[in-house]
This record gives sequence, structure tokens and C-alpha cells, in this order.
Amino acid sequence: MAEYRGDCFLVPGPVRMNQNCLDAMATPVITARGKEFREVMAELNSGLRYAFNLTPSKPEKHTQSWSGEDDFKVMAVSGSGTAAMEMIIANRFRPNDLVLVPTNGKFGERVAEMCKRFCNVKHIKYDWGRAFDLYELEQQLERKCYEALLICHNETSSGITQDAPAIAEMCNRYQTSFILDGITSIGGLPVDLTTWNVEAAAMGAQKCTAGPSGIAAIAFNSRFHDRCKAIKEQGDINALFYLDFISAYSKGNDDQTPWTPAINLAMGWSAALNTLKEEGLAKRWERCQNLSNGVQNLFSDLGFELLADLSQRSPTVTAILYPEGIDDSWRTDLKEKFDTQVIGAQDHLKGKMFRIGSMGETTAAEMIEGCKRMIECFKHHGHKLPDVDVASYF
Ligand SMILES: Cc1ncc(COP(=O)(O)O)c(C=O)c1O
Repeated sequence: MAEYRGDCFLVPGPVRMNQNCLDAMATPVITARGKEFREVMAELNSGLRYAFNLTPSKPEKHTQSWSGEDDFKVMAVSGSGTAAMEMIIANRFRPNDLVLVPTNGKFGERVAEMCKRFCNVKHIKYDWGRAFDLYELEQQLERKCYEALLICHNETSSGITQDAPAIAEMCNRYQTSFILDGITSIGGLPVDLTTWNVEAAAMGAQKCTAGPSGIAAIAFNSRFHDRCKAIKEQGDINALFYLDFISAYSKGNDDQTPWTPAINLAMGWSAALNTLKEEGLAKRWERCQNLSNGVQNLFSDLGFELLADLSQRSPTVTAILYPEGIDDSWRTDLKEKFDTQVIGAQDHLKGKMFRIGSMGETTAAEMIEGCKRMIECFKHHGHKLPDVDVASYF
């Protein structure tokens, strides 16, 4: 393997964009309403269907590129992943609906917070990084009072991936809609919206698909559409305008959007999604898994404590607790003296932990070099570590 010499950017999103993605964005302006943008949209839709692991569509305008042979459609959303989640939640629930939101980290808690703006929420809060108690969730679903169960599928703040197949099975058994924040799972680890019968899911461009920040997407099935339509027609829709799903839906067949789209971001994301197609979705999932396995085994062997429960550690982000005597000044030095970036922790874990992203187009060579520099930086901060063959972990 060739030695890696550049800066190491190992953050769990935004991730590094490749040159094709950057070049695609450096395109002179086109109108939002002409045939050129319809072509951009169709290509993006087709790429999104691939990333969402749905049946294919043609990247050609006026061919219903947002739909395929399954029951799902995709829709690009101008804004970051949060906008996509807000579009799902605000349109899908009536103010009187009750939803169930189990969480074990910051982004799940944000889903619960967002739901509180638009409906009633039963928020079951587990400690960050602890797996959900599926028995407790089943007891809740048995009550049959929930319109939906929402999860943050891959909890970026604590490095845990939820057991989506098991939760989906329960939701289907109790006829409860299942909704995913897939912002750091879709494109980075196996997601099967069809088998799980997920009603809607959100992803952000800047994470596993290595696109630009500020554009996101949702995938949704016909039930989601029908529910949103009925709620709007019955005048029960929450107060929203920009993120009105039904307005956006009415433009979908025409490869159009209700408001000015994020034109150049759409071009960049399409290029990044083409790179994903070239690599292959299953190959990307495998690469992310291999990178995270390497990181997790390496730091465990070095004596570090990982935050997430062993059985559900994420393939796209690893949360590692600082050893005694180390704080976030380590991260500053890592960036300034070792040309390597990872991210810190949020909320109550700030200064106590760091997180390594293994998503997007990160190579094993970059990860190996980055881990070597992290180890050097720990030594530089007076933390004694045994000598290890870092490359052998990847
Ligand atoms: C799992 C998850 N959900 C939601 C978000 C928020 O997404 P955005 O910052 O794109 O709005 C993030 C961002 O890191 C995330 O990792």
C-alpha cells in the first residue's frame, strides 16, 4: 500500500469531496426551470435511489427518475440533513399524534426535540452509546397508541448503530410506522428500506456519500405520501411553508422543485453519487466496516475505552474516550502539529472523548497514517502506549 502523505481528514462528516464533485460544482449558472436543470435533477435522483439501496431509475429527465419498481420515491431537499428530517416529521404528523422516540445520543435526542415541535412524543432516553432495550420498546408498541417509531439509525454522537432489523420487525408486527434518521447510515452501512418497511428516511450529502454540505434527501413510500396528503387536505398540517412535502411532491414527476433548488450542490452531489456507483454500494459498506473494525480493534488493544456497546459499534464512526490526563488540547495539537483532524464530543461528553469517521471515500492508507499520527500525538502528550503495527489492523 502506498504511503499516505497528505493531511488526514477523519471527521464523521462533512467528509472530503473528490475532485469530480468539486469540479461539477464549479459550473456556470443555469436556470432552475430549464431542461438543463431537469437533467441535473434526474441524474441526482438516480444516484439517490442507488445510495438509498432502492431499485434503479434512469438518470434522464421526464422518466420519473425519482421512482423505481419498488414503492419508494426519493426527493432532494435544499438544506442540511436536519431540514430533511424536519420535512419528514412536520408533514407526517398531526399536532395530536403521539410518536415513540428511543435515543442513545445527541442526534436521536434532536429527533425527539424536533418531534416535540410538531406532535406529542414519548421519549425513551438511554445513556449515550447503550443499546436500546428492545423488550421495553416492544412493551410500548404493544400499547398500540403510537403513530410511528422514529430512530436515529446511526448515532454519530456516540458511535452506535441501532438494531434496525429487529426494531423494524416489531414496528411491522404492531403496525406502527417506522422512520429513520439515516444521515450517517445511508450509503455507509446496510440499509434496507423495503425489507424493513421503513416509511421515510433522511440522508445528508456531506456524510457517507461524500457530497457537499447544504443538500439532503428523503426516501418515502406511498403510505407516507398518502398520510401527508390526507393531513394537508384535512387542514391538520403543522405550520410550515418552505418544507411543504406536498408542494415538493407535486413537482417530482417534472424533475422540478417548488423553490429555487441548490443547483450547484445538486451537480456536486450527483458527481459524488457517481463515484459511489463506480465503487459499488456493497463495496463501500465493506470498506467502511473494515476501516471501523481496524480503528476499534487498534484502540481497544491500546487500552482505550470505546463508548458504544460492543455488539452495536458503528461502521461509520467510532467514539473513543480519552485516557486519564488527556483532554481536547490533544485534538488541537493533532490538527496543528500532526495535520490530522478528528472531531470532539458533544454535550456532557465534551472534552472527554473524540470521534473518528470512517465514511465517504476515506482510504485505508489515510486511516492508517491518521491512526499513527494519533498515537504519536498521545505520546507527545505524555500518554505511554505500546508499539503496535498499525497497518496490520486494516
Ligand atoms: C445522525 C445525524 N443526524 C442528524 C445530523 C444533523 O445533520 P445536519 O448537520 O446535516 O443538519 C447529523 C450531523 O452530524 C447526524 O450525524
